[in-house]
Amino acid sequence: MAEFDLVVRGGEVATGFGTTRCDIGIRDGRIVTLAERLDTDGPSVSADGLLVLPGGVDTHCHIEEASPSGVAEESFTSASRAAFAGGTTSVVCFIPQWKGGGVLERHADAEARAKKGMVDYSFHQIISDPTEAVLEREIPELVAKGIRSLKVFLTYEPLHLSDAEYLKVLVTARKHGCLVTVHCENYAAINWRTEALLAAGMTEPKYHAWSRPPVVEREATHRAIALAELVDQPIQVFHVSCAEAAEEIARAQARGVKVWGETCPQYVTLTAADMDRPGFEGAKYMCSPAPRDTAEHAKIWDMIRRGVLDVVSSDHCAFTYAGEIGKGKNGRDAVFRDIPNGIPGLAARLPILFSEGVSKGRLTLDDFVRLTATNPARLMGLAPRKGSIAVGADADLVLWDPRAKRTITNAMMQHAVDYTPYEGMEITGWPMMTIRRGEVVMRDGVVQAEPGTAKFLPRGPYAMIAPRGVLANGFDAAPVL
Ligand code: URP
Ligand code: ZN
Ligand code: ZN
Repeated sequence: MAEFDLVVRGGEVATGFGTTRCDIGIRDGRIVTLAERLDTDGPSVSADGLLVLPGGVDTHCHIEEASPSGVAEESFTSASRAAFAGGTTSVVCFIPQWKGGGVLERHADAEARAKKGMVDYSFHQIISDPTEAVLEREIPELVAKGIRSLKVFLTYEPLHLSDAEYLKVLVTARKHGCLVTVHCENYAAINWRTEALLAAGMTEPKYHAWSRPPVVEREATHRAIALAELVDQPIQVFHVSCAEAAEEIARAQARGVKVWGETCPQYVTLTAADMDRPGFEGAKYMCSPAPRDTAEHAKIWDMIRRGVLDVVSSDHCAFTYAGEIGKGKNGRDAVFRDIPNGIPGLAARLPILFSEGVSKGRLTLDDFVRLTATNPARLMGLAPRKGSIAVGADADLVLWDPRAKRTITNAMMQHAVDYTPYEGMEITGWPMMTIRRGEVVMRDGVVQAEPGTAKFLPRGPYAMIAPRGVLANGFDAAPVL
């Protein structure tokens, strides 16, 4: 019997702390040996001339959210194809809570959907209605099932929480050892500006950006952090789009507050001008927060390099463009307020960040590995199983050609929807092969994984998100008994 199920030979293996030329021995889905040379028979793949990177970990993906306001076009099977096509091997998705309902009742359905796919997964639980039953009884049960992150929205109808509700979620997360992830935009301010814009006849997609300028993101980011600091509960600020918001995070980090910032490829590539394309075309670029401008892109790159923003996720939220569902569900002349927010990006995330970051000299390869795999895995309690190339880790690997040139087309994204906002983008650096738990699941763009092979990634307690023990006046208003 061969010593290894698979050997990856001769690649430049990226550890996040430099690269080393070595062979990787894989058995039972895990990395069991890293050696200069493995002289063994048995199955192998050549990584000559290629980088070997840890499989991407995308901790912000909206897939098959079966709720009245959720995204449903993408299935876990099609999203898995997109993930593998782009070099991602693990995702963290969302279980929605319907207002008036509980959260446990959604769990079995989400689990049944996700396990039909091929990409390994965990969940964030969205809390849109923090009733006593949810906070006291259901969240502890979810934690026992291995879910360790709660997602809250400070804007969006019908998901947004008041400050009082947000505080309750923070307290519950602290008690049960969860991370809270936050969508930071000011609900009342956006509504007020939206009403004024619509009353003035400014209804086209480009006014989406006008309805939510950076100040509304900055204010909510400041408030989200301040309340988390008060409770002494770690948070991650999702999809930071502008320097004003990132500066709030930087200031809090300098005080020692446990706050982490995520950004996405759209905030270093797309601009508000994209939403000003003719007709309904601008809807393809509508997401929240809104894309800004090239000056803001430069500032976001700075914040990434400084480590203020230490995770780059896709915020994949794939709505169909043509026809009467998805972006067009309220008609193709709908006012911007009524066009669903969100763009697809699961397959494009790694190629765009590599090309715009590493190939253009803005990031090192180590930065890239940490931003796209190691940091998200650590922050979500998935490390050391996911996010790095190390003995004992799952054998999730991407063989990457740093010189390959591609022009993005929608077909290359392999998702279930009919457009990509990155159509025509020139890319240098491309995934040639994706390996999930020791199995080749994508080779030269052809995804060959069997549906139903995804694995749930349960998360236990982890030190990174422990409270600091720093409390105003030393008084703990919500002691963990
Ligand atoms: O526009 C976006 N980002 N849609 C997805 C939902 C969210 O806010 O993360
Ligand atoms: Zn969000
Ligand atoms: Zn999102």
